[in-house]
Amino acid sequence: MTDTSNNAIWNRRFTFVMAATGSAVGLGNIWKFPYITGEYGGGAFVLVYLGCILLVGLPVMMAEVLLGRAGRTDPVHSMQENAKLSDASPAWSFIGYMGILSGLMIMMFYSVVAGWVIDYFIQSATGAYSNADVETINNNFGELVNNDSRELVLHTLFTCITAAVVATGVVKGIGRAVEILMPVLFVLMLLMLIYSANQGDFASGVEFMFKADFSKLSADAILEALGHSFFTLSLGMGAIMAYGSYMPGNASIAKTVFAVGILDTLVALIAGLIIFPIVFANGMESNQSVGLMFKSLPIAFSQMPGGIFFSSIFFGLVSIAALSSSISLIEPGVAWMEKKGISRLKSTITLAATAWIGGTVCLFYGEVFDLLDNFTTKVTLPFGGLLIAIFVGWLMNQAVVKADIKLRSDLFYNGWLWTLKLISPLGILLIFAHTLGWI
Ligand code: TRP
Repeated sequence: MTDTSNNAIWNRRFTFVMAATGSAVGLGNIWKFPYITGEYGGGAFVLVYLGCILLVGLPVMMAEVLLGRAGRTDPVHSMQENAKLSDASPAWSFIGYMGILSGLMIMMFYSVVAGWVIDYFIQSATGAYSNADVETINNNFGELVNNDSRELVLHTLFTCITAAVVATGVVKGIGRAVEILMPVLFVLMLLMLIYSANQGDFASGVEFMFKADFSKLSADAILEALGHSFFTLSLGMGAIMAYGSYMPGNASIAKTVFAVGILDTLVALIAGLIIFPIVFANGMESNQSVGLMFKSLPIAFSQMPGGIFFSSIFFGLVSIAALSSSISLIEPGVAWMEKKGISRLKSTITLAATAWIGGTVCLFYGEVFDLLDNFTTKVTLPFGGLLIAIFVGWLMNQAVVKADIKLRSDLFYNGWLWTLKLISPLGILLIFAHTLGWI
């Protein structure tokens, strides 16, 4: 297939999988998933989260890739194009606008956390916590969070690196790096898992993560699990739509999406299985909020042979995983501004500067950090997903959908379609209503 538009096309499906995985796998898996699992009490939360991935996340992700591949441009114009093709109202481009704003809001707190990761990379490489005791390591995180100027420098650095990559263009910027580095991160995590299984309290960790105690499950926990299934898959804001626009027309959406979904879920579960055994073996509480990863992993690194080496590589790779995710947080907005005739460089600078200002506010006011995190995870992402499910499930020309999704077996096609038409939107609506106390 030849493409005459300005869009670059990733011809190899593998590269698309790596780019989508690069966007999906990030701080959401390694930092956020373990800490919210700890906060919401473990097993039951994990089970609901896995259910949300399967019944809402993956079906909606297929729909979002479909929209992007059909629209072949940024989320706003893709939605306008798709609406036109389906005789639907142009107001559906609202999904794109809301997505661009969601991406910016996420970038604001994401860059702060990424700054912490870079700090831990520096600490690791300089051996700052090798042979340190548990208490020193715990205090370390508190000191960092109270050191505003240090946080500011690192969050600025991360925002600038993200902007630099986005300004040079998506394909050139990320393809290669992700392809090589993500598998390395995965292997390193497997090694850390072996360490945790041997040296940590593995039995308690496994029990905490997989033994479901539904009495611990609050309405808020269910909403968080739903929202996180969007956050971790980079769904509901047009990032996957923007990447879908690069997907070759002959590749199978279903296979690709499942590959990304399985990799993403595996990384999150492995992160939990590394962290909780360390937490329990060292008499720590599981609800350490945003500090969980930063307080637990260094304990393991301080004790293991070659700890300085492994921890430097680990935090270095997590910084890069964060980078390949943050790119997709501002790329849709940049693509939209570019289409409006503003240069890529100017668009990138405008959006990155906006995100930087918001991030700086987050860093001084923890409430703003929490507000942005909660508002995007619990409101805008699931709402975006709801609209995508309704649009593709109910409004798009079904013959076109069927031809595009390329699910050869009718059983799978109908299974997907009806999940998207009914189960996903009803699930989201019920969880919204439950949280608001309506049911
Ligand atoms: N999925 C990424 C993570 O888990 C975060 C992310 C990148 C994201 N792009 C996104 C979340 C778009 C929502 C929407 O770290």
